[in-house]
Amino acid sequence: MKAHMITYGCQMNEYDTHTVQSQLVSLGADMVHSVDEADFVLINTCAIRGRPVNKVRSLLGDLRKLKTRRPIVVGMMGCLAQLQEGQDMAEEYGVDVLIGPGSLLEIGRVLENNEKFWALNFRDELHDHIPPPPPQGTLQAHLTIMRGCDHHCTYCIVPQTRGPQVSRHPDSILRELDTLLAAGVQEVTLLGQNVNAYGFDQGARMAGLPTFADLLRLVGRTGIRRVKFTTSHPMNFTEDVAMAMADTPAICEFIHLPMQSGSNRVLRRMAREYTREQYLQHIADIRKHLPNAVLSTDVIVGFPGETEEDFQQTLDLYDEVGYDQAFMFIYSARPGTPSHKHFEDLPKELKTERLGRLVELQKQWSQRRNAALVGSAQEVLLRGDAVTEGFLEGHTRGNHPVVVPKALGADAAGVYTARIEHATPHMMYGKLLDAHGQELPELPKLTPEAAAMTNPLQMA
Ligand code: 5AD
Ligand code: SF4
Repeated sequence: MKAHMITYGCQMNEYDTHTVQSQLVSLGADMVHSVDEADFVLINTCAIRGRPVNKVRSLLGDLRKLKTRRPIVVGMMGCLAQLQEGQDMAEEYGVDVLIGPGSLLEIGRVLENNEKFWALNFRDELHDHIPPPPPQGTLQAHLTIMRGCDHHCTYCIVPQTRGPQVSRHPDSILRELDTLLAAGVQEVTLLGQNVNAYGFDQGARMAGLPTFADLLRLVGRTGIRRVKFTTSHPMNFTEDVAMAMADTPAICEFIHLPMQSGSNRVLRRMAREYTREQYLQHIADIRKHLPNAVLSTDVIVGFPGETEEDFQQTLDLYDEVGYDQAFMFIYSARPGTPSHKHFEDLPKELKTERLGRLVELQKQWSQRRNAALVGSAQEVLLRGDAVTEGFLEGHTRGNHPVVVPKALGADAAGVYTARIEHATPHMMYGKLLDAHGQELPELPKLTPEAAAMTNPLQMA
C-alpha cells in the first residue's frame, strides 16, 4: 500500500498524524509525498471553524473525481470525522474509512474491513502509546501530555470531537521524551487542549499525577534544551506555573494564554469561567516571575452579541498587556455548539471590520515588542534553509520567527546564538555569534557552478 496523509488543524493533529503514519508503516505501507503516487489518502481533519471544514469538503470533492479514474481508498480521521457533520460529508463523498481522534490505533482494523469506526473515549492503548522516535537529528518535536477538554466554552466544538480530558501518566511522558532525546531533539512542545488542568481530570485531582507546574519541572530536568507548551486556559492557570518557568532554565519564557475577549459580558456568554480582572492577574503573576516573558494569545472577534463597547474592551485589554504575538479569529458558528444554538451571528461585514482593527493594533504591538529586541543576543533554533539562498530559518525561545545568513561553522540546522539586527512585526533578522559574542564570518555566497568547483568530491 502507498499511503499519503494530509493534515489540517493544530499541533495536536500533527502529532496524531505522526502516530497514524507510524502505524501505517508498521503495517507495511510506504508513505508517499503526493496524492498522485498514493493508493490510500487519509485526511486528518479539523472542525474548529468553518474554513478548515470547507477545505476538507473541497479536497473530498477532488478525491471523488479521482476515484472515477483509478481505484483509491479515501479515509478521514481527526475532529471532523468525530462529528455528524463529518460523517454526513463522508457519506456524500464516498469516503471509505473513518476513524475518530480517540481510536487512532484502530487504523489497521479499519482498513482491513473498510470500516467506519469512531470512539470518543480515548483507549488506554492510545493513551500509553509511544510513537516511534523521529529520524535521528530532528531538532523539534511535539509530545502529547493529555487529550480532550473538560471545559464547555460555548463557541467550541472540541469537547465534542475530542471528549473529556484524560491526562497521561508522567512515566509514559518521560519514556517518550527519552526516545526524543536519543534522536537528538533539542526542543519539545508539550501538547494538550488545556495543559494547565493536567492532573485534574473531570475536576478531580488524579492520584499519582503531578500538577502541570511540577510536570514542567520534571520534564525540564531531563536534559532537554528547550521546553514549550500549548495551550493554556486562564481558568486553570496557577502562579506556580510561572514559578516553574522561572526556576527551570529549560522552560522557554514564552506563554500562550488565550484571552478570547476583554469584555466580562462576552466572557460570560462564552462560558470562559474567568473575568478580565482575573486574566490580568495571571499576566501580572507571569511578569512578576518572568519579566522578559513573551506573551501570545487567541482572540475571537465578533462573538454573538458583542457590542462596539465590548470590542473596545478587547482593544483596551490588548493595549494593557501588549502582546508580542496573537492569533485573531472571526467568530465562526459551529453547528452543535451552544452559541450556535442559542445566539444569533453578527453580520459578516461587522466582524471583518473589527478583525481589521485588531490586526492593525497587534501589528503595532508586535513591531514595538520585536524592535525592543534589536541588538540583543537570542538563542535560536534553526531548523534548516530559509527560502532565500544562503540563509537559515528558525525561531527564538520566545517563538519569534528568525532568519540569519549562514556563517562559518554554522551553516546547517542547529541551536545557535544570534544577535538581532532588524525586526518587523512578523520576522526577526539576525547575525550568528560565536561563544564569545563575536559575529561569525558569513559564508561567501557562491553560485552553484562556483560551489561545485570548490567541492572536491564533485570536481572528482
Ligand atoms: N470561531 C472562531 N474561533 C474559534 N476558536 C475556537 N472555536 C472558535 C470558533 N467557533 C479559536 C479560539 C481558540 C483557538 C484555537 O481557536 O480562539 O483558542
Ligand atoms: Fe485541533 Fe481543535 Fe482543530 Fe481538533 S478542532 S484539529 S483540536 S484545532
